[in-house]
Amino acid sequence: MKNLKSTGSKSPSTSSKLFLKLNNGSRLFPGQTLDDTIIELLLHLEYVPYLHIPIKFNAAELLQEAQHLRSRYSPYLKKNDDWLTLGLRTPGGRPGRPLSQPKEIAARDTKFAKRCPRTRALLAKVVDWDNCSRIRFRVLKAKSKVACHRDGNDSYHHITVNISLNMPEGCDYLIDLSPAGRRTKKTKVIPFKNSGSIFLVNNSKFHRLENKSRIDRYHLTAFGRVKLHEQTLLKLARKQNQIRGIENLIKALKR
Ligand SMILES: [Fe+2]
Repeated sequence: MKNLKSTGSKSPSTSSKLFLKLNNGSRLFPGQTLDDTIIELLLHLEYVPYLHIPIKFNAAELLQEAQHLRSRYSPYLKKNDDWLTLGLRTPGGRPGRPLSQPKEIAARDTKFAKRCPRTRALLAKVVDWDNCSRIRFRVLKAKSKVACHRDGNDSYHHITVNISLNMPEGCDYLIDLSPAGRRTKKTKVIPFKNSGSIFLVNNSKFHRLENKSRIDRYHLTAFGRVKLHEQTLLKLARKQNQIRGIENLIKALKR
């Protein structure tokens, strides 16, 4: 593994902060040594906080499964009926809203997991289902928003698999905003497709969602070990971001 501190920067530098973060490991590759491949991949997700995974699937079929259970969804946050969830695998197998003070409870399939065979079949190609701590459908209702927030401040524990089952025109997922939710020169709109698409998303960056359309937006999120080999993911990241090598990424991150 390269010593990121030896990249010519003075302490406390971006690179040494990154090095410390990287030492915390990542939920994408639990228990795996942080070699150069994984470090470069994680730096890509710091540089551009999403990575498209080009696995094709029939989004209409999965959307049907998600919509069929619509009456069983509950609000993701208290006092916000615009953003709904249904868990397929969660701590303790509770399908509803996550606990406000999460405890260490083992993940289990909820009673709805069995009712979504096509969703399970797709996820089996992307993640190790049994090692996922959470798998959820999420709905953002038409003409609704999710306010700016981040899901933690440690990049490498907050990378999520996010799958669009639809993405109506006028619905945007903005990421790498200012803490107040303003766009900056780094801000990106994640290019989710209405016909279905799979992304890794670094949700430690400030993000918000707005659905200006008249159609409810359905997504699927999974937190856990990804099945794709890290070399494959790195190849995809280099192609997507048009940059390669740890040193070049650190330089780019400092700009
Ligand atoms: Fe979030």
